[in-house]
Amino acid sequence: MADLKQDTSRAPSHAGERFFMRFTRAQRYMHAVLFSTFLGLAATGLPMRFSESFWARRFASGIGGFGTIIFFHKFFALVLTVAFLIHVKEVFTRGLIHREKGIFWGNTSMVANWKDVKDLFGHMRWFLGLGPKPQFERYAYWEKFDYWAVFWGMIVIGFSGYAMWFAPFFAHFLPGWALNAVLVIHSEEGLLAILFIFSIHFVNTHLRPDSFPMDMVIFTGVESEEEFKTKRPEEYQRVAAEGKLESRLAVKPPVWLLNFSKVVGFTAIFIGLLLLVLTLSAYFGS
Ligand code: HEM
Repeated sequence: MADLKQDTSRAPSHAGERFFMRFTRAQRYMHAVLFSTFLGLAATGLPMRFSESFWARRFASGIGGFGTIIFFHKFFALVLTVAFLIHVKEVFTRGLIHREKGIFWGNTSMVANWKDVKDLFGHMRWFLGLGPKPQFERYAYWEKFDYWAVFWGMIVIGFSGYAMWFAPFFAHFLPGWALNAVLVIHSEEGLLAILFIFSIHFVNTHLRPDSFPMDMVIFTGVESEEEFKTKRPEEYQRVAAEGKLESRLAVKPPVWLLNFSKVVGFTAIFIGLLLLVLTLSAYFGS
């Protein structure tokens, strides 16, 4: 939910090719915590859900049993909860206390607006060859959808997870049937999140033609001028019209960072796709 407030005092790397800041270091670290804990939660949640399948039993016996799996699931859950609370606190501090313009509404906000609806339909028309490609702003409609899917998912999965974890405490407020329901809710919403992230999010962000095989911007924080202009033309034009392009200049990502990002990114995609295949095979095989 952020526009850019730091890391902006940089110069172009070399003549001709300019690079622009898209994500701050804090945003990249937040995404790193999010995706690594999510992978951990998926890798430990799925063996619980499909505990009868051969790979779940192999995995469990390899790491010390289902007790160990549950231990790590709770560990990743705690780390993700802390990251989520930090994010919520930041959004509310910036929006409500510092009254930062544009965090809850406008071009740089994560909140959907009328342009997103028009872009969605315009995009469908473009897919069918019936119209021009929409000119996306800072966050395209599917990026906002991804954001809210995770936000909403965190509340539902998190609440149901803690209700299972601390069932005797929650039994003071919830009827017995609700404590059974939270297991179903957690399990189904967890599965939905896994399927969504490892298929739609991966395809939308990394595997679409203009980003294939991986969009590095979430790792490096910067994108080339060409990418900025073609992927988010309306944002580029707005920032240029406001005379703020210079303040967004960044250095070209160093080779070590690109290589490191590739290793981390491809490992994450590989684990995600492997979990997706195991999930689908267990789901349709059972
Ligand atoms: C704050 C976040 C979370 C908490 C507190 C939490 C907690 C739990 C707990 C306590 C269990 C039951 C373990 C047991 O049987 O003793 C569980 C199971 C499970 N969790 Fe989570 N979890 C969280 C996030 C997630 C996420 C993000 C996913 C998906 C990526 C997920 C997927 C699952 C699955 C699939 C199961 C197995 C359910 C079943 O047996 O059908 N969890 N979780």
